[in-house]
Amino acid sequence: MVIAVSGGAGFVGSAFIRYISRTHPEDRIICFDALTYAADLHNLDEVSGNSGFAFIEGDITKKDDVEKLFSFHPDILVNFAAESHVDRSIEDPGLFIRTNVYGTGVLLDACIEHGIGRFHQISTDEVYGDLPLDRNDEAFTESSPLKPSSPYSASKAGADLLVLSYIRTYGMNATISRSSNNYGPGQNREKLIPKTVWNALHGIRIPVYGDGLNVRDWIHTDDHARAVDLIIRDGKSGEIYNIGAENEIRNIDLIRKILSILGRPEDLISFVPDRKGHDRRYAINPEKIRKELGFRAEQRDMEETILGYASVFS
Ligand SMILES: NC(=O)c1ccc[n+]([C@@H]2O[C@H](COP(=O)([O-])OP(=O)(O)OC[C@H]3O[C@@H](n4cnc5c(N)ncnc54)[C@H](O)[C@@H]3O)[C@@H](O)[C@H]2O)c1
Repeated sequence: MVIAVSGGAGFVGSAFIRYISRTHPEDRIICFDALTYAADLHNLDEVSGNSGFAFIEGDITKKDDVEKLFSFHPDILVNFAAESHVDRSIEDPGLFIRTNVYGTGVLLDACIEHGIGRFHQISTDEVYGDLPLDRNDEAFTESSPLKPSSPYSASKAGADLLVLSYIRTYGMNATISRSSNNYGPGQNREKLIPKTVWNALHGIRIPVYGDGLNVRDWIHTDDHARAVDLIIRDGKSGEIYNIGAENEIRNIDLIRKILSILGRPEDLISFVPDRKGHDRRYAINPEKIRKELGFRAEQRDMEETILGYASVFS
């Protein structure tokens, strides 16, 4: 099988490529990426020498670039390409609309034109908005309403709706997955875990939005990759699958955990005014993917990821 992976030089897309090359060495992988600030080609060092791997630099919003990807005749296209940082989306929503919505549309059109076997859209639990902190019994299911809070999550929700419309209108063979927060190696230093490790090691204050009580569910990128692999092989076209780990932690507790692992003082923590529209709690009900595809996230300790960043940064 030839698997095209857009956004494959980013944090989660590169983990997916490494996972496929380890578990399905018979598959060809074509990575397509615009190499924005968030990309890191070192994340692909493990696979770049493989004969079945190819890299194309290109932008999903540019039809001519996307045509180059289709010259490899992919059987499947998995779209990880996105602008992904909520804070940046608050500064520049237009870029997020262009990449995440319009870019997904360009990929979908190319898939129709070339008659691809399957399109898979990587989405996020953030499309559902948030849950209150005092209702631990609540979690997002695939039929929860879309109530995005940020330009980032609204652009991801827009892309999901486009995919669903192409399934209905053109009979396209496509699936969507919505994952919770990811941890693992190779994430850009702007994001919560690497940034906290960097600041802790360099004695820089660690900004915490609002009261720090916001809750996130955290899944390892290897688990996310395994779930997506199951969906593209055995998932049903037209379906949405939530991917979660039932591994919820408050932001402030995660930061304290990182400081404790690194042996750094808690007085580095600095509470700052809350992010605009900041979601309180995300939680995923993982029943559907568990029942239909037998997926269950492994409960891994985040310590390995934290120490991994510490060794890269020191
Ligand atoms: N990181 C998470 O915790 C998380 C959780 C749920 C869902 N997701 C989704 O997973 C996907 C990947 O997230 P990530 O954290 O790896 O993001 P990332 O920002 O680390 O990587 C995104 C990649 O897309 C590429 N890209 C950006 N614009 C492009 C364009 N116009 N054309 C081609 N490539 C382009 C970038 O160069 C980068 O390599 C996103 O769709 C995101 O919404 C991420």
